[in-house]
Amino acid sequence: GAAGDPLITEIQDWNRYSGDGVDSRPYGHPSEFESQVVRRNVAWLTADPISSVNFTPLHELDGIITPNGLCFERHHSGIAEIAPQDHRLMVHGLVDTPLVFTMADLMRFPRENRIYFLECAANSGMEWRGAQLNGCQFTHGMLHCVMYTGVRLRHLLEEAGVKASGTWLLAEGADASGMARSIPMEKALDDCLVAFRQNGEALRPEQGYPVRLVVPGWEGNMWVKWLRRLEVGDAPWELREETSKYTDLLANGKARRHTFAMDVKSVITSPSPQAPITHGKGRTVLTGLAWSGNGTIKRVDVTIDGGRNWHTARLDGPSLPKALHRFYHEFDWDGSELFLQSRAIDEQGLIQPTKDELRAARGENSIYHNNGIQTWHVGKDGTVENVEIS
Ligand code: MTE
Ligand code: CO
Repeated sequence: GAAGDPLITEIQDWNRYSGDGVDSRPYGHPSEFESQVVRRNVAWLTADPISSVNFTPLHELDGIITPNGLCFERHHSGIAEIAPQDHRLMVHGLVDTPLVFTMADLMRFPRENRIYFLECAANSGMEWRGAQLNGCQFTHGMLHCVMYTGVRLRHLLEEAGVKASGTWLLAEGADASGMARSIPMEKALDDCLVAFRQNGEALRPEQGYPVRLVVPGWEGNMWVKWLRRLEVGDAPWELREETSKYTDLLANGKARRHTFAMDVKSVITSPSPQAPITHGKGRTVLTGLAWSGNGTIKRVDVTIDGGRNWHTARLDGPSLPKALHRFYHEFDWDGSELFLQSRAIDEQGLIQPTKDELRAARGENSIYHNNGIQTWHVGKDGTVENVEIS
C-alpha cells in the first residue's frame, strides 16, 4: 500500500516552490526526464555521418504523429542550410513557359494540409537475411508521419503548362548531393505536394527547409528535400538513385525497378527490445503501427504465441490513407515466454507477408522494400529480442 510513501506524506520541492515563469522556454522542449527519447544512428552502418541515417525512436512514441524533432534524418550530403529568400524553384523542360518561383511566390498558391507517412525504401533492409538490429528504432525507424502544409505540385506544373509529350518529371534537391529522382507525370498531377510546413511549423532544416516534395505512399527517396528544380521530360532519367540504388536484385540476376509504392507493413513498437516488460505478470498493453502506400489499413492481426492464435488488434485514432495507423492489443501476461508478431492488411486486401515468403519471392539479395512480419521474443524476465521463427 501507499502508507508511509514519502512521495505522498512529505511535501515535495515542486509543490513547495514556484517554478520557472513564462518565457523561460520561448521555444518549448521536452521534460528533462524524457532525455532518452532521441534519434539514434548505428555507427557501423555508414562510413560517415554526412551520408547517413538516424532513426525515429518509435518505441517511445504513441498516436500517429511524429514530433518534428524526432523525425528520422537521411541525408546524402548532410543538411543544406538555405535562407528562404535565397531559395529558387525552377520548372522547365517540356513546358510552355519555364518558370522560377521564390518562396513568396509559392505562398500565393492555394494551400492544403495532409497527414502522410514517409518510409525510406531501405527501412528494415538490414533485416533481409535474418534478425539483426535489436530495437524497432533500428529495424523500422526510417519512418515518420506528420501533417504537411503545402501547395499541389499540379498547380505549379499547370502554371508552366506541361506539353502533351511531358510524361515524366525530374525532381532535384539543392543540397550538395543534388539528389534527383524521376516521377511519372500521373503521380505528379495526382497527390504530390510542394510542402513548406510540417506539424504547423516551418520544415526543419533536416527535413528540407525551406521546401520539400511530398510523394504520398511512395519511396522516401523520392521526397526530394531542399527542392530546387523540376524538369518535365518524356522518359525516366535513369540516374544513380534509380539504377544502382533503389532497385531490387532478384534471385535470377534481374532487378526490379520503379518499385515506387511502399508495401503494406506493420511493427509492434511496445513491447520491443528497447521497451521491455518491466511490470511483471498481468495487465499488459501491446501497441504498434501499421501503414500502406496503397491507402488505409483495413485490419491488423497480432499474435503473442508465434502465430498459433491470431487476434484482431484495436485500431485507434484517425485512419487516413497513406498515413500511419495506431493499433493496440491488451492482454494478461502469464509470465511465460512470448513470440509477438503483427500482420497488417490494407484497403486493397494486400496482406503483409512473412519474411520467408518475401525471400521465396524475391531472393536473398534485396535491401529495399522489406515489409516482412517482425518477430519479437519476450523472455520470462520481460526482456525482448529481435528473432526470426519459421
Ligand atoms: N533529398 C535530398 N535533397 N537529399 C537527400 O539526401 N534523402 C532522401 C529523401 N530526400 C535526400 C532527399 C531519402 S533516401 C529519404 S528516405 C528521405 O529524404 C528522408 O527524409 P527525412 O530526412 O525527412 O526523414
Ligand atoms: Co531513403
